[in-house]
Formats: sequence, C-alpha cells, structure tokens
Amino acid sequence: MREALCTLGNGRFATRGAAPESTAGHGHYPGTYAAGCYDRLVSAVAGRHVENEDLVNLPNWLPLRFRALPADGPPGPWCAMDTGEVSGHRLVLHLRHGTLRRTFRHRAADGRLLAVEQLRLVHMGDPHLAALRTVLTAEGWSGWIEVESALDGTVVNAGVERYRDLEGRHLTGFRTGVTDPHTVWLRCRTRTSDIGIGMAQRTTVTGCGKRYDTRGACGHRAVHRLELEVRDGRPVTVDKTVALHTSRDRAISDPFTAPVERAATAPDFTELLRTHTIAWEELWRRAELRVPGEAGRVLRLHIFHVLQTLSPHTAELDAGVPARGLHGEAYRGHVFWDELFVLPFLNLRFPEVSRALLDYRHRRLPRALLAARRAGRDGALYPWQSGSDGRDETQSLHLNPHSGRWLPDHSRLQHHVGSAVAYNVWQYCQATGDTDYLHTRGAEMLLQIARFWADRAEPDPASGRWRVRGVVGPDEYHDSYPDAARPGIDDNAYTNVTAAWVLTRALDLVRGLPARRRQELVERGILDRERLPLWEEVSRRLRVPFHQGVISQFEGYGQLVELDWDAYRRRYGDIRRLDRVLEAEGDSVNRYQVSKQADVLMLGYLFSPAELSAVFRRLEYALTDELWQRTVDHYLRRTSHGSTLSGLVHGWVLARARRADAWRYCREALEEDVCDVQGGTTAEGIHLGAMAGTLDLVQRGLTGLETREDALWLDPVQLPELSESGFTLRYRGHWGIGVRLCGGRLTVSVPESEETALRIVLPGRTVSLAPGETKTLDVRHDRG
Ligand code: BGC
Repeated sequence: MREALCTLGNGRFATRGAAPESTAGHGHYPGTYAAGCYDRLVSAVAGRHVENEDLVNLPNWLPLRFRALPADGPPGPWCAMDTGEVSGHRLVLHLRHGTLRRTFRHRAADGRLLAVEQLRLVHMGDPHLAALRTVLTAEGWSGWIEVESALDGTVVNAGVERYRDLEGRHLTGFRTGVTDPHTVWLRCRTRTSDIGIGMAQRTTVTGCGKRYDTRGACGHRAVHRLELEVRDGRPVTVDKTVALHTSRDRAISDPFTAPVERAATAPDFTELLRTHTIAWEELWRRAELRVPGEAGRVLRLHIFHVLQTLSPHTAELDAGVPARGLHGEAYRGHVFWDELFVLPFLNLRFPEVSRALLDYRHRRLPRALLAARRAGRDGALYPWQSGSDGRDETQSLHLNPHSGRWLPDHSRLQHHVGSAVAYNVWQYCQATGDTDYLHTRGAEMLLQIARFWADRAEPDPASGRWRVRGVVGPDEYHDSYPDAARPGIDDNAYTNVTAAWVLTRALDLVRGLPARRRQELVERGILDRERLPLWEEVSRRLRVPFHQGVISQFEGYGQLVELDWDAYRRRYGDIRRLDRVLEAEGDSVNRYQVSKQADVLMLGYLFSPAELSAVFRRLEYALTDELWQRTVDHYLRRTSHGSTLSGLVHGWVLARARRADAWRYCREALEEDVCDVQGGTTAEGIHLGAMAGTLDLVQRGLTGLETREDALWLDPVQLPELSESGFTLRYRGHWGIGVRLCGGRLTVSVPESEETALRIVLPGRTVSLAPGETKTLDVRHDRG
C-alpha cells in the first residue's frame, strides 16, 4: 500500500515506491508501467483458454544495493530491510516537488553502521528520465563498501494475487550491454504487442576513492558494480540516472539507442532535480485546490496522483484513463467508465489532456462501430473495459477469492459506458468552448453513441414506452434476474435516463451544426436525417421504472428479497463485497435488493437538480424533490459500497440534499486510498476515479458549478467540514478565474488581462464580472 501511494510518475511512465534493494515478494512489489503499453497473452483457467491484455510491468530500474566489505574474507549479505538491523526508516513523499526521500540507518551483522539517504524522481520535465541519488555515510568506521546499480528484466506481472494463475511473462528478447564507463543498457520486447523497450542507466560516484568498477550483463540484468572507499562521517554520493524509451515514442530512431544517448547526456542529479521541480511548480499552479486542514492534505495527494497518471505529457500519447493509475496491476491497466469522474476536473485545468483522452476514444470509434455491428446493432458500442485497440477486454471469467471458484463475468453488458464517453465529449466542449471539437470528432462519437441507443431501445406497445433490456447498470451485483437463463436486467434507470440525455444532446448538436458540416456527416453516413424523429421519440419515451414511490434501479428490483444486513454484518464484519460473500455461501446477490455502488444515485452526481428534473420532464415523468429524497434514502440503506466510486457519489448527492450524513461519505471518499478502505486493494493500484472525483467534489460538487449556455452557473451548498475552498479555473477563453467559497460567501474574480466580461448565474440572479473585477456574494440565502 505504501509502495502504491509513494509511486512517482509523469503521465508517461510511473514507478511504485518500492525500496531500491527489494525484489518482488515479502510485501514488496517494484513495478514500472508506461501509459498505453499493453500486451496480450493466453492462459489456461478453469479448463478454458482465456486471453488477457495487461498493462506490462516493465524492467525495474530501481535496483541499487550495497554492503560493507570485510577487511578479508567473503563479503556478507547485501544490506536489506531484513538483513542486519534497520532503524529510523522514514519515507517522505514531497508532493510539491514530486520526490520521494528515504532515510534510515543500517547496522550490519558485524556491527558496522551506515547512514543512508535516498532521493528519487521521475522527471516531470523530460518524461523519459528518472533518477535516484543515494548518499551513504559510514558512522564510526572507515573501509570499503560494495555498491551494485542495475536494470532488472527478471520481472513478470504478478502484482495481484487473484491473477496469479494467469500468464504474466510479457517480456522477451532480452539483450544487455555496456557503452561508456558509466552506462549500461537493457533491451527487450513485449511478447505479442511487439513494443520495443529500452532502458539505460548512468551511475556516477562522488566523494570517495574507487578500487573496482565493473559493468556487465548477466542474463536479464544489466549491472554496474563498484567498490568504494568510505571514511568515517564523510558522505559518498551515488547517482543513478535512468532513461526509458519504447518503440511508441516520437522523435527517436529506435528505442534502444535513444535511452543510451539520453542517459549518457542527461544533466547531473542537481540540475535534474531543479528542472523537475520547476515542471511540478507549473503543474501545481494550474491544479491547485486550496482547502485547509487534513482534507486539504489528502486532496493534494489526490491531485498529485492524478497528475502523475495524466499529465500534459499524456496529451502526446494514445492513452486512456487507467482505472488504477499507473500504480499497480489491478484491472490490468484497463480503461473503464471511470473517466467520467476524471475529465470534469481536467476540463477546467488541463483541457489539452481531456481532449487527448477523448481522442483515445475517438481513435477506437471504428472498433466500437464494429462491436455494435457484431451485436446486430447500429452506431457505436464502446467496450466496458478498453486497452490497446478498443476491443472489449472484459474478462469472461472472474475469480471469487472467497470460494476459489471462477465465475462467468457479465460486466461487459455495462453498455452505459458509451453514455459516459458522450457525457465527457459534451462537458469538455461546454467547459472549453471547443466547438471545433464538438463539430468534428466530438460529433462523430456523440452521434454514433446516440444511434446505438436509438437502435438498442425496443418499443413496448402496451405501455407506449421504449425499453432497454438485457444490460448491466453501474451496480455490477445485478447481472441477471434470479435463476434467469439469460444475463442482464431490463430498464436500468441510470442507463435509460443517460441514454435519453445522450439522444437529446445529439439532437441539440444536429440543430446547431453548420449546414456544410451537417451535410458532410450525412454524406459520410454518420448522420441519417430520417432517423431523427425516432431519436426524438426515444429520447422522450424511454422507460424509467418506479416502485413504492421511488425510482427503481431496474425493472423488478422492488420484487427482490430484502437482505438482513445486520445478520450479515454480524457474521462477516466487512460486507462491501456481498457478491463474493453470498456466492461463497452458495447463494446469489442477484436475489437481493442490494447494490454494490451508487446506481440510480449516479443521476444526482451527473446532473444538477434542475437539469435532472428537466431530463425527467422531457421523459414525461415528474421528479419531485420528495421523490428524489425518498429514492436517496432507499438506496442509501441498500448499498454496500463495494466500489470506491460509491462513497464519493453518495457524499456528493447527500451534500446537495443537505443531509447531515453527507460528510461521512465525503470523508470515506477522501480516505479510500490513504486508509485503504476497500481492504487491500490500494496496494494493487490507486483508485483514480475516486481520487479525481474528490477534487471535483470541491470544484463542482460543493460550488454547484456548471458550464452551460455560455455562462458559469454556481449554486453552492454548505458542508461545514469543507466550508472553505479556493481554486483557479480555465473556462473557455478565460484563464485564471478565481473562485473562493468561505462560510456561505462566494468570491469570484476575473483577471485584468481578460478581454470580455464573465456571466455568472446564481439561483435567482445573474451577475456580470468585468475584467479585473472581484465580487463577493452571500450565497446562504440564495436558495430561498
Ligand atoms: C466498479 C466499476 C469501476 C471499476 C474500475 C469496479 O469495482 O464497480 O464501476 O469502473 O471498478 O474502477
């Protein structure tokens, strides 16, 4: 868990915070992952052959070990946390500068004491570089030490216990070698995606004499060994500079010579640290969220990890939003709908990164069209899990660790992921005013997703409604009706309401397109004018089920059995993963009114109350405040929060519903990774959606900020524990809009350098801010 949380990265690659002298095992797992670097292998599981695509664990660049040498006789063991005696071990993750500092004292078996200080960085300015400085000081003795600095290719993907039966050897074709007196290199390729990977390291020493210096290759390792003279109390510095390239990189002739040259010519550690710090300072200027206290500290950690996974360097790549960051191997580095929780934060800070992440989806639009065609449907069917080429990477079997059984996985029926893509296209364009994107690639995605929904919906003559059958909603617990032969449930409210919203936005888009562009889309077969009446009809008549005066999660949810929550809590303690608990008992979660995570309530996360009422009105349903409040209560009591996305959404929705228990869920969302709330999952990678979602909770959730109709809409809510926040936004042409919320007062400022005024809509009033103007508004009474 500490290694996952102390990961350093730059949006192009990241390395877990493992100790340089440790190898995988005994609670350590060094891992290095490059954005978008996947490989596909076949494994035999439960008598079947299954294919899995993994984000590849790349060679480990960290190894650096040392030991005091005896005056004569063979050397003792290498210094490690479990040899000799370690004291004062301390790790400091410096968020502002993006460094990891480690200090400790090591007493060898013969009593000799070494003080050790290490500082590492993964360079935010030059995204191909990383560096590790180690300062060793002999305390109370003088003599010789041996240091070994290496690149280690003997790695596999083995970071997640549940996946250990699956093939994890992704690297092949190793070669290692030596160039100049300081540099060794390692090359290899991924087994099926054939991505060339090259690493080189330059190791230099200052502050001591040397008697032995050898570089060489040994199997899959490139090694540099040195014997150094140390004197009592005099620090010796060993600097390791590492370069990493893959064959996907631009502006290189090949990925093997490029890192050698880069490592050999990189500036020294002090200069690397200086430029790295400058790059981070620039990022912080754009990303800052000023929140006091412990919540503010956690939020800064979340910003830090979001930016290490998705930085402006990511905008140069063909990469999506990996659900677990570049911090571990859970979910195999796949891309889910989690970008729904990530892009809203980036849209108002790093729009170029959002746009690149949308492009990741756009490049895979042909694959989504093919998936729809293969399913006998029109339009685009985006995959539930996406990796390299956009085919559906969702596994067909998953392991229940409680029962040891491999079970069919129907989560690929979460077709709502397409609506998340459409929502993000729309939000990005609203926040940035990028109409060029909206009318080109954005339109292609939005219209094709709308086509899919119009085709996927079936008329129900009896009710005069349209229905979507055989899907899975965000709550993955319900993947079929009890004892049903076919997977999927019908009329998931979240799926249908968001589908209606997508169709409505697609119609808006078509109306707003310049005639020439509309014609072009018609000619390319993307827009079919004859279908527009059908879109209109479906967008107004999709079915939303209700029971007992609440929105039903899906048709028939109200008829499922109620679970005796207390009994299960007493029996098992942690029941977040009720699906696993019940399956291990020979039962099925499909029988019960229990949800893994927010499903219906996701609607209150995506849409402001006004917008949600409008969507329901268009569907000819009345969504009153009372109905929504009852719905919130209903699902609050029936949700096990088996996903980190759940606490966040509940906190968001409850804050809007002005409930006293909102903070409990917001706090849980803040603690998901720092306290490993899901019990053991943080070690396998951070939860990027939940982390980014907490940032957005402050940025949009509590301020009620929306970007629509050429204005900034604000409708703040009070959450006493998070009553003070401040940040700077990029909204359309305006860069540097200051927003500060403090004790019911909202201060908005527009920088002097702006050319146009900013229109702000608050409940019941509209204000205009001229360039250079700051206004403080009392928002406590605004809701009447
Ligand atoms: C959640 C999904 C989420 C995925 C990746 C699952 O546990 O149920 O909603 O997309 O994790 O974060």
